[in-house]
Amino acid sequence: MPDFQSVVVLTGAGISAESGLKTFRDNDGLWEGHPVEQVATPEAFATNPQMVQKFYNARRKQLCGGEVHPNTAHTALAVFESAFVGDFILVTQNVDNLHQRAGSQNVLPMHGELTKARCLACDAILEWLQDIEINSVCSQCGKGDSLRPHIVWFGEIPLYMDEIERALAQCDLFVSIGTSGVVYPAAGFQQLAKYAGAKTVELNLEPGNTASQFDEVIYGHATQVVPDFFQRLAPEYNFLTEA
Ligand code: OAD
Repeated sequence: MPDFQSVVVLTGAGISAESGLKTFRDNDGLWEGHPVEQVATPEAFATNPQMVQKFYNARRKQLCGGEVHPNTAHTALAVFESAFVGDFILVTQNVDNLHQRAGSQNVLPMHGELTKARCLACDAILEWLQDIEINSVCSQCGKGDSLRPHIVWFGEIPLYMDEIERALAQCDLFVSIGTSGVVYPAAGFQQLAKYAGAKTVELNLEPGNTASQFDEVIYGHATQVVPDFFQRLAPEYNFLTEA
């Protein structure tokens, strides 16, 4: 049995990189010449909704196009969760659905979900696998120009924060995977876990911005270091045969 009773995992874009999804800070954080921070804001949506919808439509199309699949790092987390008898929460900054598709159950997508649209008129959150057009109609209230991506933009409050903070305050192991550690509040989670007395671990391709705050750091590709780490933590779960 692992020596831990309550595990919180935080993931970022790095865990999905080997599934073929670009991380945010690839290409120097530019998308068609725009800094990501200029596309992913309520102000950008207010002034140029076409550009913002185009950005997320392209990402949704890629995610749902049949060529992007969960990788062994996503699967290792799902296998660990299904076998682990303690508390397990997977907080992800990613808006892809690869953790859910890998079989993870207790997922908190704090920055929203690409496969959902939100209605600005009635607050409905709708499953949405196609492009969102400027005049797409909300199936709940019938309004024709009120849908936006269900994504937390810069300046907006991330989702599930109460639940996340509760989990961090009582965890005894916190593992951060594939995140640069530059976007808050997620970049401060290892500190909250540490206040709770948890062991903190960074698994990343290279040191993130907050690397010095972790008790243990392991660098390498997620498809390698994530299954290895959880296999070491719980050798009896047998990741290789179950994955
Ligand atoms: P970043 O693009 O900032 O960082 C990706 C991290 O993954 C970096 O530390 C890379 O070294 C690492 N990485 C790249 N390839 C990897 C691999 N194969 N295996 C393991 N690690 C790898 O992405 P995030 O930290 O997730 O927010 O970005 C945080 C937030 O900033 C995003 O959720 C998004 C963005 O703006 C919003 O949209 C609100």
